[in-house]
Amino acid sequence: MIPRDVKSSCYPEPVKKRILIVDDEPSIRKVLQAHLTRDGYEVETACDGGEGIETLQQQHVHAVVTDMQMPGIGGLELLEWCCTNQPGLPVIVITAYGTVNSAVEAIKLGAHDYVTKPFDRDELKLIIAKAVATEEACSQNLSAANGRFDIIGKVSGMQRVYSLIEKVADSPTTVLITGESGTGKELVARALHDQSSRATGPFITVNCGAIPESLFESELFGHDKGAFTGAVAGKPGRFELADGGTLFLDEVGELPLDLQVKLLRVLQERTFERVGGIRPITVDVRLVAATNRDLRSQASDGAFRQDLYYRLAVVPIELPPLRDRADDIPLLVKHFLTRFNERLGRKVGGLTPEAMRVLESHSWPGNIRELENLMERSVLLCDQDFIGVDDIPGLDADGSGSPEEPELEGMPLKAYVRVHTAKLERARIAKALEAEGSNVTRAARRLGISRKSLQTKMKEYGLRDGG
Ligand SMILES: Nc1ncnc2c1ncn2[C@@H]1O[C@H](COP(=O)(O)OP(=O)(O)OP(=O)(O)O)[C@@H](O)[C@H]1O
Ligand SMILES: [Mg+2]
Repeated sequence: MIPRDVKSSCYPEPVKKRILIVDDEPSIRKVLQAHLTRDGYEVETACDGGEGIETLQQQHVHAVVTDMQMPGIGGLELLEWCCTNQPGLPVIVITAYGTVNSAVEAIKLGAHDYVTKPFDRDELKLIIAKAVATEEACSQNLSAANGRFDIIGKVSGMQRVYSLIEKVADSPTTVLITGESGTGKELVARALHDQSSRATGPFITVNCGAIPESLFESELFGHDKGAFTGAVAGKPGRFELADGGTLFLDEVGELPLDLQVKLLRVLQERTFERVGGIRPITVDVRLVAATNRDLRSQASDGAFRQDLYYRLAVVPIELPPLRDRADDIPLLVKHFLTRFNERLGRKVGGLTPEAMRVLESHSWPGNIRELENLMERSVLLCDQDFIGVDDIPGLDADGSGSPEEPELEGMPLKAYVRVHTAKLERARIAKALEAEGSNVTRAARRLGISRKSLQTKMKEYGLRDGG
């Protein structure tokens, strides 16, 4: 909450910032609109949360002032939507004199502040000015705070990654990036290159898992003319191509042991020969390696050379799995939503809070790549304004994905699908009921079905309402 004695002059002059007022009562909208217009704001109004969300999707608003109780989508749901889809947008809730408790509740849920009815003009002015200033600071810092070097993520594990990138990018030190598949290892390798003084030099990738063993040596070190049958001309290897830049050894854990020896020699001596060549070649290459294996334990088991491991892991950078970064999911969702809306020419507004919760509790075995693919698919296929739980099939609310239950394995496909659909349906209904405090009418509205068919389904699934 803000100190009420702060002078409004502390805040930048509000030059045509846009405020959205959401209230079902026309007189309140009118009073607020008059006050705020006089204070120099551009004002939009909406008569309920749904209309408010529509406005927010269409234009950039700098702060929202909303009533709590409204027919249809209420203030809390609007607040929840804003927190999910427009983090950083301050929401101020309107509270009647004597009902401050509900405002406190709203602030706990992420509201910026509250205003009491009847409105005190100076207080209102101050709260709005503060909110707008916060939004401004937030949108300026948003990109910096929410990620760096084209990498999205604000959790402390990612901040550690950014600070390491910053520290080591410009040194010649070899970096080993570790992390599960899809956690962004290649992005980090790129960032290391882009942030270094080698940025204008080449960035050459070798996928150690994809090159057949017989070609590996010539791929890395090149070959001279006549080195082997078919070598009609000489060819530089990746080490030579990377001269003056960065060589990225991706999936380095896949490197066969005999090639590990050869790589180690280059790292130690900084020179090599092409296959079939005798001339030693010296290059100025910065080496970055990545692996999704636990190279340290492979090294102690003898599956990876220990000496090479220590040479590579001079500076280890470990990327956290997405399941440990639930706080970053809304940011990543927003990032991919913008990207795929643009690429696919769609205008999907966001995720329903329920769908966001499902994403936040999923375990993401494929990490950010899995989320990226899911977002692409759902932006493409979603035929509503919002991606709902139904648009993200295969993920269930308790985050276990779609586990193969052994007892279902032998089942005919039709029965299998029926059982799974029923499970999903039951879970969704139970969630809606829970979210609506067991109010069947509202739960039915939330689910987009009639009250009657909800009651039938509740019976079928043995779900009780609160009454
Ligand atoms: N923090 C992030 N912000 C935005 N996009 C990300 C982030 N991390 C990963 N991605 C995207 O997710 C996808 C997978 O990332 P990347 O290829 O870097 O993962 P990886 O760790 O190299 O995976 P693998 O081990 O399977 O090779 C890419 O499209 C990448 O752009
Ligand atoms: Mg990769």
